[in-house]
Amino acid sequence: MTTDKLDRTKRRFLIAATSAVGGVGLVLTSVPFIRSMGPSERVRAANAPVRVNVGKLQPGQQLTVEWRRRPVWVLRRSEEMLAGLEESSLRQRLRDPDSQETTQQPAYAQNTYRSIKPEYLVVIGICTHLSCVPSLRLAATGDGRELGWQGGYTCACHGSRFDLAGRVFKGVPAPRNLMVPPHRYLDEGLIECGVDPIASSGQSAAGASCCRRLVEVDQPPSGYRS
Ligand code: FES
Repeated sequence: MTTDKLDRTKRRFLIAATSAVGGVGLVLTSVPFIRSMGPSERVRAANAPVRVNVGKLQPGQQLTVEWRRRPVWVLRRSEEMLAGLEESSLRQRLRDPDSQETTQQPAYAQNTYRSIKPEYLVVIGICTHLSCVPSLRLAATGDGRELGWQGGYTCACHGSRFDLAGRVFKGVPAPRNLMVPPHRYLDEGLIECGVDPIASSGQSAAGASCCRRLVEVDQPPSGYRS
């Protein structure tokens, strides 16, 4: 074989080999690209409304459900707890006692209890400072007393304190009250998180029903006293 003929043969082999590798690379890179197109079942499920059965919840108990990858707490409050939320000595220690910051709750939760039914608080369990997850403490502990905090939610990351309506105290890093998500009551003991009451009829309610799931009652939180 002449040198010229040898070069042409090598060139044809290299072109064929490069095309084959390129083809494999295209297939390998196309698979994740195709998979990333459109919302996955998991994402759709995570964004779907969540039903919460609160029928077994006792005063002072809280359960946690996941909605849009965030913890949502449902706390059942006693008459005594609700009365405490109205005290003027508490209100004057709060940054936004009347929930004037409209981004932090729907209009139907812009009241003293920050809820539709005073008995149940539905709130996203993420601190409004730097997104740590606070803890429920029904009685004041440690340095929270200096703020006049008598119990509620405490964030261990930087010491923010909230009352039993998720209202933030003055003098802590968190700038806003805990966020109340859209929610509605389907019946006396069944809450649906992720849907406003005003959207409770027609297409949106029917469309949401395919992805709803029931969530059971958690154990009583630490610090719970019956
Ligand atoms: S994240 Fe809660 S106080 Fe900083």
